[in-house]
Amino acid sequence: MSTIGVFDSGVGGLSVLRALLREIPDAHFVYVADSAYAPYGERTAEEVTERSQRITAQLRQQFPLDAVVVACNTATALAIDALRLTHHDLPFIGVEPALKPAAALSRTRHIGVMATRGTLASARFHKLQSRLEHGEHPPHFHSQPCDGLADAIERGDQALTRILCERYVAALQAKATAQAPIDTLVLGCTHYPFEAPLLQSLCGPSVHLVETGAPVARRTREVLHERRLAPAHARPDLLLLTTGAPEALSAVATRWLGTTTPAGHWTC
Ligand code: DGL
Repeated sequence: MSTIGVFDSGVGGLSVLRALLREIPDAHFVYVADSAYAPYGERTAEEVTERSQRITAQLRQQFPLDAVVVACNTATALAIDALRLTHHDLPFIGVEPALKPAAALSRTRHIGVMATRGTLASARFHKLQSRLEHGEHPPHFHSQPCDGLADAIERGDQALTRILCERYVAALQAKATAQAPIDTLVLGCTHYPFEAPLLQSLCGPSVHLVETGAPVARRTREVLHERRLAPAHARPDLLLLTTGAPEALSAVATRWLGTTTPAGHWTC
């Protein structure tokens, strides 16, 4: 059995963990919500890299990790290269906005991308986007920085979450035209899939919502398989840790994962 570290700025990475638990049910997972430092999306690249490095180093000290899933688009965009350089013996699986699957799905060629400001401003995101913007009918990506949305979801503030979703969906719709409307919406932050029903109702049923939990979980399983990782450890299957309030993480994990595992406080 393998031990996999998973971290995010907060509860958003639980959307990736949910897919991981389905895909690799026999692995041991240690999930870290860095809620004391959330949101990452409006922090500098240096701050996000520093937090990602500290979390990974401490996780490695405490657990016999076989892989780390960076279950955060912002931390992947800003810190995964540095993590790989520091821990060259450890596989890292990152999460990136699903532009390629969206380009394959879109018929109107107009694709909305909701993500944090940090992700959208990153060199990694620009490279990913420009790799796809070519060909006879290139996709048009309309990016929307969603300031405050991950934080509202993190805090369970449903009224603010609704207001911000309405605002950002309206802004995206205004960027396309009636002749060529947005028909595909990329949820480029791991917090957003938990608001998929609300976003779907705001966009209408003809818009495809695309997220990355399932492909990231498949990729993680492949990485473990390639490395033939199967060490057995006598630890619980799922450990939930947070630098913030454990009750808050436990409540969200119960709602979103259906688990009754209580979360613990983690100082990092
Ligand atoms: N859930 C994270 C992401 O996927 C970060 C959100 C935030 O902390 O701003 O980008």
